[in-house]
Amino acid sequence: MNVAIIGCGAIARKRHAPALSKYEGACFYGVCDPVRENADELAETYHVKAFYDLGTLLSCKEVDAVIICTPERFHMANVIEALRAGKHVLCEKPLALNAGQAEEIVKEWKKTDRMLMVAFSQRTYKVHTMAKQLIREGKIGKPVFFRTNLTQKGVEYTTLAGNQPDFYDKYLKNIGGALLSVGCHRIDLVDYLFDAHIEEVQAFTPTIDKSYADGKKIDAEDHALINAKLSNGLAGLIWISWCNYGEAENETIVYGTNGTLKTFEGKGIRICYKDGSTEEYDTLADHDEYQNITINFLDALTKNEAVIADGLDGCRCMQVIDAVKKSNASGCWVLVDSKAEN
Ligand SMILES: NC(=O)c1ccc[n+]([C@@H]2O[C@H](COP(=O)([O-])OP(=O)(O)OC[C@H]3O[C@@H](n4cnc5c(N)ncnc54)[C@H](O)[C@@H]3O)[C@@H](O)[C@H]2O)c1
Repeated sequence: MNVAIIGCGAIARKRHAPALSKYEGACFYGVCDPVRENADELAETYHVKAFYDLGTLLSCKEVDAVIICTPERFHMANVIEALRAGKHVLCEKPLALNAGQAEEIVKEWKKTDRMLMVAFSQRTYKVHTMAKQLIREGKIGKPVFFRTNLTQKGVEYTTLAGNQPDFYDKYLKNIGGALLSVGCHRIDLVDYLFDAHIEEVQAFTPTIDKSYADGKKIDAEDHALINAKLSNGLAGLIWISWCNYGEAENETIVYGTNGTLKTFEGKGIRICYKDGSTEEYDTLADHDEYQNITINFLDALTKNEAVIADGLDGCRCMQVIDAVKKSNASGCWVLVDSKAEN
C-alpha cells in the first residue's frame, strides 16, 4: 500500500508525515506541493519522492491512497481529482468550502469503490471516545442539555505561513472563517458524542477582532455562537472562536438527569453526580493522539477497519455550517438541509 501526502504544510509535517513514516503496513511514497521548497523539505526529511504537480503524482499507478492537507479552497478539486484517478482519500477537515461542494464530492465518491475519509481527528481522542461511552452507558442519566467550546487564537498561529500583519489579506480566501477551521470539528463532535444529527440551528456569527493589514475587519466570521437542536431531542450551545488569546478551550459539558459530565477536567473527565459525589476518568493516552486519524486511515486501508468519519460525515458537517450561515443572515432558526444523504 503506497500512500502520498498532498500539501506539505503544518498539518502534514506535524501529524500525517510522522504517523505515515512509522506505520509498518504502508509505504510513504511521496509528497506533492506547488511550492517546491515545501515539497522538497518534507521529501528530504522522509527520503521520499517530491512532486510539484498533482496530475503527475496522481498518474503514478503505484500510488494507492493520498492524504490531502491543502488549504480548504483546494479540497474539492483535489479530492475529486484523486478519486477519479482511482485513489483512496483521507481529506483534512473540512471536506469542502460549503454544502454544495461537499455534495458534489459525495456524488463523485459514490461512483467509485474507493475510501473517502475526513480527518475529524477529535473523534479519536480518548477524552471523547470515553465521554461518548459514559453517556451511552447512562452514567449521567438522560442528557438534557450540552455546552461545548472550541476557542483559540486564530489560524494564523497554526499554519506554516505564521502570524503576520497581512495574513488574512493573503490567505483568507484559501481558508475561510472560523466555522470552517475550528467550527467543523465541534459541529462534527456533537453528532459523534450523542449518536445523533444536528437538525436545526440558530446562530450568531460576528467578526469581532480579526482584521486585514489596513485594520478593516475580515470578510468572514471569527466567532460563532450556535444553538443546536438534535435529532434525538437534545439541545445545546456550541461556542467557536478565533478570538481567545489566552489558553485554548476544548471542553464539553453534558448535563444529565443524574449529574454533569465535563471533559478536560481533572484527569480528563469529571462527573459530578446529583448526590454531590464526583468521579474522575483518566483520559491520558499512551501515545501522540494527534496521529490517530492517520493511523485509522491506514488501518482501514490495510486491515479492513471502518473509517472513523467518511464522506457523508464530512458532507453533513458542511450542511450544518451552511444552515448556521443562513441563520446568522436571517436571525431565525434554520433546518439543516441534508439532501446529500437522500
Ligand atoms: N485536523 C486538524 O486538527 C487540523 C489542524 C490544522 C489544520 N488542519 C487542516 O489541514 C489543512 C492544511 O492546513 P495547514 O495548517 O497544514 O496549512 P498550511 O498553509 O501550513 O499548508 C498548506 C500547504 O498546502 C500547499 N498547497 C496549497 N495549494 C495546494 C495545492 N493545490 N496542491 C498541493 N498543495 C497545495 C501549500 O503550499 C502549503 O505547503 C487545512 O484544511 C486545515 O484546516 C487540520
